Amino acid sequence: MSTIARIRWISGPVLRAVTEGVFQMREAVEVGETRLLGEVIRIEGEEIVVQVYEDTTGLKPGVEVHGSGRPLSVPLGPGLLGNIFDGLLRPLAGTGSPYVLPGLRAAPPLSFVFTPTVKPGKRLESGAVFGTAGAAANEARSQKLLIPPNQGGEVIQVAAAGSVDEDAPLLTLRGAEGKEYTVAMRHDWPVRAPRPVIEHLANDKPLLTGQRIVDSIFPVALGGRAAIPGGFGTGKTILLETLAKWCTADVIVYVGCGERGNEISGVLEEFPELEDARSGRKLMERTVIIANTSNMPVSAREASIYTGVTVAEYFRDQGLHVALMADSTSRWAEALREVSGRLGELPGEGAYPAYLSSRLAEFYERAGRVTTLSRAEGSVTIMGSISPPSGDFSEPVTSHTKRYIRSFWALDVKRAQARFYPAIHPLQSYSEDVGPLGAWWQATGNARWPELRRRFLTLLEDQARLDRMARIIGKDAMPPRQQVVLACAELVNEAFLRQSAYSPSDRYCSPERQTAMMKLLARFIEQAEAAVAEGMDPGALARLPVYRKLVRMGEDLPEEALEKYEQLATELEQAFTRVSKADAHAADR
Ligand SMILES: Nc1ncnc2c1ncn2[C@@H]1O[C@H](COP(=O)(O)OP(=O)(O)OP(=O)(O)O)[C@@H](O)[C@H]1O
Ligand SMILES: [Mg+2]
Repeated sequence: MSTIARIRWISGPVLRAVTEGVFQMREAVEVGETRLLGEVIRIEGEEIVVQVYEDTTGLKPGVEVHGSGRPLSVPLGPGLLGNIFDGLLRPLAGTGSPYVLPGLRAAPPLSFVFTPTVKPGKRLESGAVFGTAGAAANEARSQKLLIPPNQGGEVIQVAAAGSVDEDAPLLTLRGAEGKEYTVAMRHDWPVRAPRPVIEHLANDKPLLTGQRIVDSIFPVALGGRAAIPGGFGTGKTILLETLAKWCTADVIVYVGCGERGNEISGVLEEFPELEDARSGRKLMERTVIIANTSNMPVSAREASIYTGVTVAEYFRDQGLHVALMADSTSRWAEALREVSGRLGELPGEGAYPAYLSSRLAEFYERAGRVTTLSRAEGSVTIMGSISPPSGDFSEPVTSHTKRYIRSFWALDVKRAQARFYPAIHPLQSYSEDVGPLGAWWQATGNARWPELRRRFLTLLEDQARLDRMARIIGKDAMPPRQQVVLACAELVNEAFLRQSAYSPSDRYCSPERQTAMMKLLARFIEQAEAAVAEGMDPGALARLPVYRKLVRMGEDLPEEALEKYEQLATELEQAFTRVSKADAHAADR
């Protein structure tokens, strides 16, 4: 017997209903004859407030709302990988389609080849692995099957190996109270509840991305949290896609929150085409996309980031490293604002509800590197883009997000306009994980990483200061020492920070190559300062052939040519020896 309530008032995706029984906060409900999916978001005495995840056209006062007695949950199983869903994991109607089939509650179960790894008599704790699921078409992508968290017991019966659907019972377990129950490939999990782990681990390993300004300057940890704020068209989506393609995660969960319908269908069309640089297959094979299009109710968009992080945790629990991209969290916050507005709540800053900040926390705080229940290491790294109106980073979504993230990659309108990509501004961005990740770089061939990184940033700061003066009095009129700063900062920008996502030789940069480039640039800076101190004309720096070679090294010296960086180092030493000789001769004459 389910509890019932009757609609008293309805506005778009939210309704108020008078209860005839007890409802729980966050309980899943079904509304009306077509059993539309909804969730209790507030309880006020005899009344519940429900947010409905489907089109509510036609609902009116008096219509029944049925309680389910369970929190809003999504089914987690091997069928997620490679597929596209809405904010509640209902599959989209077809490739590139922005529609969900109406009335569809969950993805229909898919078939996988079950291979058990346990026998009757074994005791399994919650989160333990009991077998694998392999797709007939792609054996390589076999996935671990887990006992759901909060379950466990003695194995009574195991199904035979073979092809089964995701909901078929595979194990019979006898739990602590002697009660028997079955476990299938997929299980339900409430989207707003973090999945349990044994312990959280330190953020002292990097999530490598192959992007120099990220890895070497503003790194993000495995299990870290990053934000990408950027005005309209500054490259947020391209950067997230580039990170998805090259980062060292095993699984990508991409949550797309679009305002305009075409924004998301772009991702739906492009993503399935992206090539997986590591396997040469399609990136989509190890990706789950959660898409919110403009024709879906805003409430589904509000739930989608929690659904996304729940899916990410599910793969983490299999001992995998997962990268979750949310693009853009501003569109998510707008959904929160719209629902709040319809409820007549007192608006806070920017008309967002006062709980914007705690909702952001509930999302970002689920990132982390952990020991899973099955004693494996797994992680969820969250990267969220923000689209601040008119590019103003002091607005509420950006400022509240800053409280919960550790890496901040601020996209700069001026850089983007100059087609300087990625347009991450080196002076407005930061990473709070530089300390622990510095130790990683030092142990991985770049003993001077913290120092070189600081050197680059100081140079760029000095450049920002001197640029104004240079514009007023002209570069040539500035003291030689300051001209060196300008020339070297320009070199760091062009040779290191700039990196084309479309260049076959430079779109990915390994840690070894980043280290080689960093050392060369640092050596050039040292040599340039020394040479100019001894009288060299600073204007001549940018004319040195080696300067031009350094600017082009990302493009001209690809991964396969790492040894060429040694040659360039020798050339660099000789360039300055020659310069000082030439100067000496000039002085003699
Ligand atoms: N790394 C890059 N390399 C080359 N071009 C880029 C790069 N990043 C962005 N662009 C250019 O900028 C355009 C806009 O990029 P993108 O769509 O990623 O911006 P956005 O910040 O997501 O925009 P919106 O605010 O509309 O979501 C791209 O179509 C592309 O032409
Ligand atoms: Mg975008």
